[in-house]
Amino acid sequence: MEAPASFSPLSIALSLAMAAVILCQLLLKLFAAATPSPSLPPGCMGFPFVGETLSFLKPHHSNSIGTFLQYHCSRFGTVFKSHLFGSPAIVSCDRELNMFILQNDDKLFKVSYPKAMHGILGSNSLIIAAGDTHRKLRNVVVSFVSWCKSNPTFLHSVDKLSVSLMESWRCQTRVFFCKEVKMFALSVMVKELLGIEANESVGLRILDEFETYMKGFVSLPLNLPGTPYYKAVKARAKLSGIVKEMMKERKKKGLVVGVEKEGDDHENFLDVIMSNWKLDEEEIVSVVLDILLGGYETTATLMGLIVYFLAHSPPNVLAKLKEEHEAIRNGKGKGEYLNLEDYKQMEFTCNVIYEAMRCGNVVKFLHREAIKDVKFKDIFIPSGWKVHPVFSAIHLDPTLHPYPQQFNPWRWRDDKEMSKKVTPFGGGPRLCPGIELAKLEIAFFLHHLVLNYRWKTSSDECPLAYPYVEFKRDLLLEIQPCSC
Ligand code: HEM
Repeated sequence: MEAPASFSPLSIALSLAMAAVILCQLLLKLFAAATPSPSLPPGCMGFPFVGETLSFLKPHHSNSIGTFLQYHCSRFGTVFKSHLFGSPAIVSCDRELNMFILQNDDKLFKVSYPKAMHGILGSNSLIIAAGDTHRKLRNVVVSFVSWCKSNPTFLHSVDKLSVSLMESWRCQTRVFFCKEVKMFALSVMVKELLGIEANESVGLRILDEFETYMKGFVSLPLNLPGTPYYKAVKARAKLSGIVKEMMKERKKKGLVVGVEKEGDDHENFLDVIMSNWKLDEEEIVSVVLDILLGGYETTATLMGLIVYFLAHSPPNVLAKLKEEHEAIRNGKGKGEYLNLEDYKQMEFTCNVIYEAMRCGNVVKFLHREAIKDVKFKDIFIPSGWKVHPVFSAIHLDPTLHPYPQQFNPWRWRDDKEMSKKVTPFGGGPRLCPGIELAKLEIAFFLHHLVLNYRWKTSSDECPLAYPYVEFKRDLLLEIQPCSC
């Protein structure tokens, strides 16, 4: 008779371990079958070469997402593939993916403007620079912003420029608002940055060349005489020449930094850059142009949007804004300058500014490129593909913002999560360094505007995303002094 099989504790343990391994493998297989591996999102690559670029860029009211996104999101979902600006691309209207893209700058994604824009921006621009060069140049801009904010003459200068703009409108009943505030925003910038008045001949030349420069960004990259692109490249060369000339003059005179100058002739930031930062000539020119580029058109556009939305909102919005500024003015002596303490009182004003950014979308989307294969949830983004996080889709998402088309500054008071639901200034390592400067400039300007004027826009006026926001008729306003 055979003896019954005996199992040693070791063989039992081994069998159990093998069973556990087999079970785990089975479970893993089952799980993998249930969750599909990340894949390219659905979408449409459009026509050969141009892809879907023209329909993506089709102008629409900037307070809407436009028909292209409407159609694509309803057909493919909030993340889809396409072919834009000459490359295969992923378009993201998904808040989480957008944040992921912004936070992973230089790790998984890099900034990637169409090649043509490099010709206009110049190779040293921090807007296209990466790594250490980006950090170095960005630090200069960050220090410019804190230099301005801590400089009482900057606050006086913004205040004085606002007052003189209000005075220049005294005899007028109609103003082309965008043209006027572009000049205002540029004046603020060139005064602080270069120490010149925008109505000096050199200031006017800068404004003129900048207009041409900006037009190049939204033009076809045809470098042929007469085209907007060609003119923009030339305008950059002229602007660069103007800044270099100024640097030469300053070197000739000898720089004295840290010495208080009398009256309005205070230190300007070009002097500070030249003495305190180890940058070569081309880098200085680039950082100056980047600050002007980043700081003046965007700020002026936002001012236009605020004025537009106030004119098209229920009267209680403007009334509340006016009440805030009357209270501030009543606490001051006649003609007394605004200061940082006053700015801190402008809570509702800041909510008006934020709400105009949410509704008006100064920056609709960004340009990025995947530098390696990226997997995000069930989405696969191949290395080398362009990626476009679209901000307007998040800003106008009805699941995040009830009645998204409604201009309602109070939502910023009532919903403490609002700042997490909008990204008008981008995010991550490239978050706009000029936020506080733009807000302060606009708040001071609004103080004088609401206390001095009432306004109406013409009925057919509206902000259009080209994708840069432009008003149909340069925002033609009918104005009336408040006392009338
Ligand atoms: C309403 C006003 C403004 C808006 C809506 C705005 C928006 C933005 C956005 C969305 C970005 C991110 C770009 C990206 O990630 O590729 C950015 C970057 C930048 N902004 Fe602003 N901006 C405004 C005002 C200003 C001002 C006043 C300055 C001047 C100091 C400025 C200077 C810059 C610079 C230099 C960058 C590049 C930063 C980097 O790449 O690290 N911006 N801005």
